[in-house]
Amino acid sequence: MKIALGSDHGGFELKEVLKTYLLQSNYDIIDVGCLTKESVDYPDFADKVVQQIGTDECQLGILICGTGIGMSIAANRKNYIRAANCYDEHTAKMSREHNNANVLCLGARVLGKEKALAIVDTWIGTEFSGGRHQRRIEKFSR
Ligand code: RB5
Repeated sequence: MKIALGSDHGGFELKEVLKTYLLQSNYDIIDVGCLTKESVDYPDFADKVVQQIGTDECQLGILICGTGIGMSIAANRKNYIRAANCYDEHTAKMSREHNNANVLCLGARVLGKEKALAIVDTWIGTEFSGGRHQRRIEKFSR
């Protein structure tokens, strides 16, 4: 499974922690930046992850900013993106089972590193339920 990872400066440190963790877990990672703590604009990195998913280069993306809010708003402008700003394992699980979220957004200034890793584990490890949830997703994907 290939996962695109992106952050702004607020999410940079957590992105690096996640990258190491995911590589150790044998996931294929595309790191679209940012690459330092220097101030950048989160929509630029949301767009890079969205582009990766749009070209079928990878199936899932993770976007990290200070709150996860800016990244989720920016990523959700494309109709093939279902970006969910998750704050615990339950929301991570539901975002996959019910919403088939293909982008996980995290708030690095809201979540501790341990919580963020637990959210990522749950999110990656949960499958979409399909059925009535597929019908609902189709209503906003046109
Ligand atoms: C950057 O300071 C901050 O605004 C950004 O990381 C994010 O939280 C925006 O939603």
